[in-house]
Amino acid sequence: MMDDLAQALKKFRSFTLPAGIPSAEAGERKRILVERTGEWELLLMIWGPRTITPIHDHNDSRCWMRLLAGKLKEEIYSGESPQLLTENHFTDNGSLFIEDERGFHRLRNDNESVSVSLHLYTKPLITSRFFDEEKKAWFISTLKTDGALNEFI
Ligand SMILES: [Fe+2]
Repeated sequence: MMDDLAQALKKFRSFTLPAGIPSAEAGERKRILVERTGEWELLLMIWGPRTITPIHDHNDSRCWMRLLAGKLKEEIYSGESPQLLTENHFTDNGSLFIEDERGFHRLRNDNESVSVSLHLYTKPLITSRFFDEEKKAWFISTLKTDGALNEFI
Protein backbone atom coordinates (compact mmCIF):
# COMPACT_ATOMS: atom_id res chain seq x y z
CA MET A 1 0.00 0.00 0.00
CA MET A 2 2.89 2.38 0.72
CA ASP A 3 4.36 1.42 -2.66
CA ASP A 4 1.03 2.27 -4.21
CA LEU A 5 1.03 5.73 -2.60
CA ALA A 6 4.67 6.32 -3.56
CA GLN A 7 3.76 5.48 -7.14
CA ALA A 8 0.79 7.86 -7.02
CA LEU A 9 2.93 10.69 -5.63
CA LYS A 10 5.49 10.09 -8.34
CA LYS A 11 2.78 10.40 -10.98
CA PHE A 12 1.45 13.51 -9.24
CA ARG A 13 4.85 15.18 -9.18
CA SER A 14 5.91 14.28 -12.71
CA PHE A 15 2.61 14.95 -14.49
CA THR A 16 2.81 17.54 -17.25
CA LEU A 17 -0.17 19.24 -18.83
CA PRO A 18 -1.05 17.57 -22.14
CA ALA A 19 -2.32 19.42 -25.19
CA GLY A 20 -6.01 19.04 -25.96
CA ILE A 21 -7.56 19.31 -22.54
CA PRO A 22 -10.95 21.04 -22.52
CA SER A 23 -11.37 24.65 -21.46
CA ALA A 24 -14.00 26.00 -19.06
CA GLU A 25 -16.43 28.90 -19.17
CA ALA A 26 -16.68 31.63 -16.55
CA GLY A 27 -17.97 30.13 -13.32
CA GLU A 28 -17.50 26.59 -14.57
CA ARG A 29 -15.13 24.00 -13.14
CA LYS A 30 -14.41 20.70 -14.88
CA ARG A 31 -13.09 17.61 -13.06
CA ILE A 32 -11.24 15.33 -15.46
CA LEU A 33 -10.21 11.91 -14.18
CA VAL A 34 -6.59 11.05 -14.96
CA GLU A 35 -6.36 7.72 -13.08
CA ARG A 36 -8.13 5.99 -10.19
CA THR A 37 -7.33 2.88 -8.19
CA GLY A 38 -8.96 1.57 -5.03
CA GLU A 39 -6.45 3.60 -3.03
CA TRP A 40 -6.04 6.89 -4.85
CA GLU A 41 -7.19 9.07 -7.70
CA LEU A 42 -5.53 11.71 -9.80
CA LEU A 43 -7.77 14.44 -11.21
CA LEU A 44 -7.28 17.52 -13.35
CA MET A 45 -9.42 20.51 -12.51
CA ILE A 46 -10.02 23.19 -15.08
CA TRP A 47 -11.19 26.47 -13.62
CA GLY A 48 -13.02 28.97 -15.77
CA PRO A 49 -12.67 32.67 -14.96
CA ARG A 50 -14.19 33.71 -11.62
CA THR A 51 -14.88 30.19 -10.34
CA ILE A 52 -15.25 29.39 -6.66
CA THR A 53 -15.92 26.13 -4.80
CA PRO A 54 -18.04 25.85 -1.67
CA ILE A 55 -16.17 25.39 1.60
CA HIS A 56 -15.71 21.61 1.92
CA ASP A 57 -14.10 18.80 3.84
CA HIS A 58 -12.13 15.86 2.41
CA ASN A 59 -13.99 12.93 4.01
CA ASP A 60 -10.86 11.49 5.67
CA SER A 61 -8.95 11.53 2.38
CA ARG A 62 -5.66 13.31 2.03
CA CYS A 63 -5.46 15.84 -0.79
CA TRP A 64 -2.44 17.16 -2.64
CA MET A 65 -2.85 19.88 -5.25
CA ARG A 66 -0.33 21.27 -7.71
CA LEU A 67 -1.08 24.22 -9.94
CA LEU A 68 -0.25 23.56 -13.59
CA ALA A 69 -1.45 26.80 -15.19
CA GLY A 70 -2.83 30.16 -14.10
CA LYS A 71 -3.43 31.18 -10.51
CA LEU A 72 -5.65 29.97 -7.65
CA LYS A 73 -6.35 31.15 -4.14
CA GLU A 74 -7.04 28.82 -1.22
CA GLU A 75 -9.01 29.90 1.85
CA ILE A 76 -8.67 27.66 4.91
CA TYR A 77 -11.50 27.59 7.44
CA SER A 78 -12.10 25.95 10.79
CA GLY A 79 -15.19 25.09 12.78
CA GLU A 80 -18.70 23.88 12.00
CA SER A 81 -19.63 27.56 11.48
CA PRO A 82 -16.58 28.02 9.32
CA GLN A 83 -14.28 30.89 10.20
CA LEU A 84 -11.62 32.00 7.76
CA LEU A 85 -8.16 31.18 9.14
CA THR A 86 -5.77 31.93 6.33
CA GLU A 87 -5.37 32.48 2.61
CA ASN A 88 -2.75 31.04 0.29
CA HIS A 89 -1.97 32.15 -3.23
CA PHE A 90 -0.72 29.72 -5.85
CA THR A 91 0.95 30.28 -9.19
CA ASP A 92 2.69 27.78 -11.47
CA ASN A 93 3.72 24.63 -9.61
CA GLY A 94 2.54 26.00 -6.28
CA SER A 95 1.25 23.11 -4.21
CA LEU A 96 -0.84 22.43 -1.15
CA PHE A 97 -1.69 19.54 1.12
CA ILE A 98 -4.89 19.33 3.14
CA GLU A 99 -6.67 16.76 5.27
CA ASP A 100 -9.56 17.16 7.69
CA GLU A 101 -7.36 17.73 10.74
CA ARG A 102 -6.06 20.89 9.07
CA GLY A 103 -9.54 22.28 8.50
CA PHE A 104 -11.87 22.92 5.61
CA HIS A 105 -10.99 24.88 2.54
CA ARG A 106 -12.22 26.36 -0.68
CA LEU A 107 -10.39 27.19 -3.86
CA ARG A 108 -11.11 30.10 -6.13
CA ASN A 109 -9.97 31.37 -9.48
CA ASP A 110 -10.54 35.11 -9.13
CA ASN A 111 -8.86 35.78 -12.46
CA GLU A 112 -10.21 36.47 -15.94
CA SER A 113 -8.29 33.54 -17.40
CA VAL A 114 -8.50 29.74 -17.05
CA SER A 115 -6.43 27.95 -14.40
CA VAL A 116 -5.59 24.24 -14.27
CA SER A 117 -4.71 22.21 -11.17
CA LEU A 118 -3.80 18.59 -10.52
CA HIS A 119 -5.23 16.82 -7.46
CA LEU A 120 -4.22 13.58 -5.79
CA TYR A 121 -6.68 12.08 -3.30
CA THR A 122 -5.97 9.06 -1.11
CA LYS A 123 -8.53 7.43 -0.84
CA PRO A 124 -10.49 8.55 -3.88
CA LEU A 125 -12.84 11.36 -2.88
CA ILE A 126 -16.29 10.08 -3.80
CA THR A 127 -18.46 12.14 -1.44
CA SER A 128 -17.66 15.09 0.76
CA ARG A 129 -19.36 17.70 2.92
CA PHE A 130 -20.04 21.15 1.54
CA PHE A 131 -21.10 24.26 3.43
CA ASP A 132 -24.12 26.16 2.11
CA GLU A 133 -23.39 29.75 3.11
CA GLU A 134 -26.95 30.98 2.57
CA LYS A 135 -28.56 28.23 4.67
CA LYS A 136 -25.58 28.10 7.06
CA ALA A 137 -25.75 24.31 6.82
CA TRP A 138 -23.55 21.46 5.69
CA PHE A 139 -24.72 19.01 3.06
CA ILE A 140 -23.19 15.86 1.58
CA SER A 141 -22.62 15.71 -2.13
CA THR A 142 -21.30 13.07 -4.53
CA LEU A 143 -18.43 14.30 -6.65
CA LYS A 144 -18.85 13.77 -10.37
CA THR A 145 -16.27 13.83 -13.09
CA ASP A 146 -16.57 15.40 -16.52
CA GLY A 147 -14.93 12.52 -18.31
CA ALA A 148 -11.56 10.84 -18.35
CA LEU A 149 -8.40 12.47 -19.64
CA ASN A 150 -7.88 9.84 -22.34
CA GLU A 151 -11.17 10.92 -23.94
CA PHE A 152 -9.65 14.33 -24.67
CA ILE A 153 -6.01 13.76 -25.61
FE1 LIG B 1 -10.51 20.47 -1.54
